[in-house]
Amino acid sequence: MNETLRIQQAHRSIRDYKADPVSDEMLDQIIAAAQRAPTSMNAQEISLVVVRDAAKRAKIAELSGGQPWIIKAPVFITIVIDFHKTDLGVRKAGKTQIIHESMEGFGVAATDAGIVLGMLITAAESLGLGIVPIGSIRRNPQGMIDLLGLPPLTFPLVSLCIGHIEKDAPQKPRMDIKTFRHDERYDASGYAAAIDAYDTTLVHFWNEVACSEGFSWSEALASRFPTIYFSQVKPVAAMQGLLNDK
Ligand SMILES: Cc1cc2nc3c(=O)[nH]c(=O)nc-3n(C[C@H](O)[C@H](O)[C@H](O)COP(=O)(O)O)c2cc1C
Repeated sequence: MNETLRIQQAHRSIRDYKADPVSDEMLDQIIAAAQRAPTSMNAQEISLVVVRDAAKRAKIAELSGGQPWIIKAPVFITIVIDFHKTDLGVRKAGKTQIIHESMEGFGVAATDAGIVLGMLITAAESLGLGIVPIGSIRRNPQGMIDLLGLPPLTFPLVSLCIGHIEKDAPQKPRMDIKTFRHDERYDASGYAAAIDAYDTTLVHFWNEVACSEGFSWSEALASRFPTIYFSQVKPVAAMQGLLNDK
């Protein structure tokens, strides 16, 4: 196995960080790697906002529902859908951009944001740093927009805590690979049995790491998925001009 595969297969989210800062050199390398991410049509409609200021991170932790690792990790990067940038180019060429009003636009930008997130993760982990993605910024997207000074046609989609690892975390088990990889044709016939097995495995995992959470996969999802848990995403995205109605 080569070093990249080893790092990717060793991934686990880290939620306990040292106070030591991440050096400028490390951060520059991580961000340079992520900027090489492919984007649909080379649109480069993703921007990153790097927050290191402790008071700002404390505010973001509050907006995100009080996750202490946002306060502890010295670097917090928000991945922003940035159709403001592309609008400038389209206007310069004498046309009117409407892609930001469409599901196609949101889907493309979310895909490209995910690739950037993945590349940030691999780059940071390759330097021995710990990471945890933070989707909970979407709990209060308007608060994030105000705090980060984001203009219309942008949206803060997901963030990433980065820092030196204080306490390592065990790898969380995954479902049977057959529920992930389908050869030639999708086949869900093994899903029910795989979910049963995974529910048992995950409860066992939580018991082993002495975590109070202790929910099976099915129970964990059932506590969130019957609701639109971040209900401000659609209205705030629409106020930013990302209407999602085309
Ligand atoms: C897009 C995305 C958003 C996430 N948001 C949060 C979050 O807000 N808070 C958190 O503690 N973990 C968050 N996570 C981490 C997941 O809970 C974690 O990846 C998952 O439980 C699997 O664990 P592992 O990364 O250790 O393998 C997020 C992960 C992703 C990919």
